[in-house]
Amino acid sequence: MPLVNSKEMFKKAYQGGYAIGAFNVNNMEIIQGITEAAKEEKAPLILQVSSGARKYANHTYLMKLIEAALVETDLPICVHLDHGDTFELCKSCIDGGFTSVMIDGSHHSFEENIALTKKVVEYAHDHNVTVEGELGRLAGIEDAVNVSAEDASYTRPEEVQEFVEKTGVDSLAIAIGTSHGAYKFKPGQNPQLRFDILEEVEKRLPNFPIVLHGASSVMPEFVKMINENGGKMPDAIGIPEEMLRQAAKMAVCKINIDSDLRLAMTGSIRKYFADNPSHFDPRQYLSPARAAIKEMVRHKLIHVLGCNGKA
Ligand code: G3H
Ligand code: 13P
Ligand code: ZN
Repeated sequence: MPLVNSKEMFKKAYQGGYAIGAFNVNNMEIIQGITEAAKEEKAPLILQVSSGARKYANHTYLMKLIEAALVETDLPICVHLDHGDTFELCKSCIDGGFTSVMIDGSHHSFEENIALTKKVVEYAHDHNVTVEGELGRLAGIEDAVNVSAEDASYTRPEEVQEFVEKTGVDSLAIAIGTSHGAYKFKPGQNPQLRFDILEEVEKRLPNFPIVLHGASSVMPEFVKMINENGGKMPDAIGIPEEMLRQAAKMAVCKINIDSDLRLAMTGSIRKYFADNPSHFDPRQYLSPARAAIKEMVRHKLIHVLGCNGKA
């Protein structure tokens, strides 16, 4: 099966009350862990690449690895640029075979965000590529840019209709209280998402796919595994999975997960070296890391996204 854009995936996800997992990929073991789980669970998949991932692994290497995953799984897979910040970056990814891009103009003014997003949409749609825009600003760290909680802002529902109409985007990322990274809430704070904003957006944009960034649950078993094996991340708190499941039953069709992959991989490698301090063959510690990613992704597909069996 060839790579697909997100159009059909989102249409089915909206109607079926589930979401597609958008997992960040940086190397072969991460791609294999994610796609092996999706194959066994028959789940449609978005593999997303940040500009940092593209710099780290190289566009061609990542595309070839994803092409290999297509051959191995025969699943509908969409390859998506995560947090594109310029027209040139989006164009380069589209020209290089990506089937979907995000243009994140959320740090610009409303008008500038519309102009930039519209320009990307025009180029993308000419190439059968879908586009995700963003309104509102998440807190946390992405691509070395740290947005403080004070600079974060919820999406304003009264702006979404105008943004979608003027830009022609295919999906919209909104800010309802999720954030990037492993420190989403403070200890003692009650994790909450603004479902009232999501409902307002849904009313104004009927049948339109919404995206949640910063949606890792920061799974406690991996934080524990890291801390029990020489790590130090005591106050890492993520989004409760039942809230993500609720969002997936609503208009949210794409849920972005990166930190949980990093934690699964790092926890497993730390444990491996704590148990086997004299080993040095990378295959020995990358095998359990890949297996940890696979089981974590399987859990998300079934219990968070609800997209198992939907491919
Ligand atoms: O939202 C950001 C993703 O977690 C990607 O992170 O830019 O460090 O690759 P990165
Ligand atoms: P997390 O840091 O919560 O995994 O979010 C990832 C993300 O939004 C990628 O765009
Ligand atoms: Zn993000």
